[in-house]
Amino acid sequence: MGISYEEMKTKVEKYNQTQIMSNYERLNDQAKSELAEQIERIDFDQVNKLYESTKEEISFENDVIEPIAYVEKDKLSEEDLQKYLNLGETAIKEGKYSVVTMAGGQGTRLGHSGPKGTFDIGLDSHKSIFEILSDNIKEESEKYNVMIPWYIMTSKENNDQTKEFFEQNNYFGYDKNYVKFFQQGKLPMCDENGKILVNEKGIIKEASDGHGGIFQSMKRNNVTEDMKNKGIEWAFIGPVDNVLVKMVDPVLLGVMIDKKVLGGGKSVVKANPSEKVGVFCKRNGKPGVVEYTEISKEMAEQVDENGELVFGESHINCNLFNVNAIEEVANKNLPYHIAHKKASYLDENGNIVVPEKPNAYKFESFIFDAFDMLDDMAILRVKREEEFAPVKNAEGTDSPETARELYKKYYNI
Ligand code: UD1
Repeated sequence: MGISYEEMKTKVEKYNQTQIMSNYERLNDQAKSELAEQIERIDFDQVNKLYESTKEEISFENDVIEPIAYVEKDKLSEEDLQKYLNLGETAIKEGKYSVVTMAGGQGTRLGHSGPKGTFDIGLDSHKSIFEILSDNIKEESEKYNVMIPWYIMTSKENNDQTKEFFEQNNYFGYDKNYVKFFQQGKLPMCDENGKILVNEKGIIKEASDGHGGIFQSMKRNNVTEDMKNKGIEWAFIGPVDNVLVKMVDPVLLGVMIDKKVLGGGKSVVKANPSEKVGVFCKRNGKPGVVEYTEISKEMAEQVDENGELVFGESHINCNLFNVNAIEEVANKNLPYHIAHKKASYLDENGNIVVPEKPNAYKFESFIFDAFDMLDDMAILRVKREEEFAPVKNAEGTDSPETARELYKKYYNI
């Protein structure tokens, strides 16, 4: 399906992207129809604007960045703890809570070829990460005697494999009627001259548009509608790559209900100034995160009178949102971050080019760029050893080995 050949030509000419069709005659019917679908769907004006943005310099110079207030779970008075637990647990038992797992990223740094959730971190049980997460949601469902709906965000690359994995493993004993998959969005990649790349199949090379696209994907794929139909008011959005993730936290929810805020996030104390984590902050009075790739050395190392890091509340990608707030954010556009990557492509003569150095731009939005659209956010500082064991790299820090040790220590196995 898709648009006609003439319409395709007119559109790529209009946006100066005619190289996209230079291999058209060589394509098989399947590729031709996929290309037609892409050309019809893709907003070329947006891609051209994104390319122009690669020439701009990002600067926080005019932003006022301050530390953010937080509540420390471990230091709550018995009275406050009970108050928050009551508020949070009541909402969970009433079926108002759901979980969303961001599982669209590729495990490139990990060196794993399948979806990250299918990875075995090397426990004696050889449980996959997806099974570890299933254990968590299953336990919480039993504890509150309510089925907690679980939505899993995949990407075009890993959607089929992810679904198959759940099928093959009988959804790890979780009721499959409560598990739903939806796909995140994608955007074309372009070269350093702004020309959209063509992949090995001869169609437009697209890449995931980052987890900031989750809000729009949830709306587009009727996830938020499904939540509202089920009476769900809250959605925890968490990562696939933390084997100690606690997906159901009545205290965080209780603090949010008590403070009447629509967003909340969990933090752990940053291990050292160069740890690869974003940190929560207030930016121009609104909640935000300064990402590890963007923080200055000076800011990362700043300490207070007690010698503690001033920007030390690590963002662990465990955030909780009101469903209405998700829908509101979905109506707005988040900024895109630019990644300079090595990307193979098909040249205009039909030859595959494998570059030796970065040659392409990938555009991604980040979930935390939505935080400033919420007026305020509740930050709950939790214990690192209880909630944060990331699996990012093949070896060294944040690797299967470190995650396995943290997991074993926590579960005493
Ligand atoms: C991320 C956070 C960082 C945080 C750290 C904690 C970002 C940009 N930064 O860094 O602030 O301190 O984790 O561990 O997230 N994902 C998708 N789709 C995508 C991209 C990612 O679903 O397009 C998922 C991944 O599967 C993973 C999570 O998002 O579950 C984190 O993504 P990743 O890109 O690995 O983030 P980090 O750079 O490790």
